[in-house]
Amino acid sequence: MTSDSAAHHSPAQAGTTFLPGPVLLLGAPGVGKGTQAQLLMAEFGIPQISTGDILRGNIARGTELGKAAKELMDKGQLVPDQIVNDMVQARLDNDDVHAGYILDGFPRTLAQATWLDTHLPIFGETPPLVAVNIRVDEAELLRRITGRRTCTVCKHIYNIYSHPPVKPGVCDIDGSTLSQRSDDTEAAFAERMKAYVSLTAPVIEHYRASNRFREVDGAAPVEEVAESIVSALKSLRQSKH
Ligand code: AP5
Repeated sequence: MTSDSAAHHSPAQAGTTFLPGPVLLLGAPGVGKGTQAQLLMAEFGIPQISTGDILRGNIARGTELGKAAKELMDKGQLVPDQIVNDMVQARLDNDDVHAGYILDGFPRTLAQATWLDTHLPIFGETPPLVAVNIRVDEAELLRRITGRRTCTVCKHIYNIYSHPPVKPGVCDIDGSTLSQRSDDTEAAFAERMKAYVSLTAPVIEHYRASNRFREVDGAAPVEEVAESIVSALKSLRQSKH
């Protein structure tokens, strides 16, 4: 992979002429959900709904929700289901989701998945939600997490090892400062992986058991993973549910 962010090719190069509809991106911390969601959002013009980003936005604004979530997030623990369900409900009430959206980081407990299953018809879910699980080995995940840097303004995601900015600490796109997430430490990562294995892995099995699920190899370069996801979405949209 090159260090030039502009060289992150768009999935359009995979020849996309369809709308993916509502999409779930699943996978462990650091597999690349946010990176891939940003590419899908740019390509298809549908919004990324990241519960992690919404929570971090609340922390930055100093809201009561942010204050309640910060301690849990810094320790690598999950925020209570009711809080994130309400956040997602409020977000899915917006008009920009009608052509589809990319849910990133939600659901991550079986209770959240069940809530989503029962609430999607209320949000007028058409076509049905499809899920793509991204897989990467745990050793690589730690490197991705500790190397991650994010633009404080446009939120573009970098990695000091695999996708560094041209000028260290500065966003290639808008020149803003890059920051490191407070939960991107080795200790918090270990806790996040524990939460993932015990609480989120069953969510993946929940969707695997449906006929609306695909899995892609997330160890490949960003552009290749993007092409695999677009191919998976195409095949999901072509199959009968
Ligand atoms: P959240 O923000 O959702 O974090 P996460 O799921 O742990 O996932 P990450 O954002 O760490 O990783 P990612 O998969 O998006 O990877 P990225 O693309 O950035 O959640 C944070 C916290 O919020 C949770 O711990 C919890 O406390 C709370 N929370 C959020 N949602 C919740 C919910 N539903 N319920 C309860 N609590 C909730 O990539 C990572 C790095 O790898 C980057 O540096 C990137 O450049 C690099 N990279 C990406 N792809 C590649 C590639 N193919 N090759 C090489 N490098 C790559």
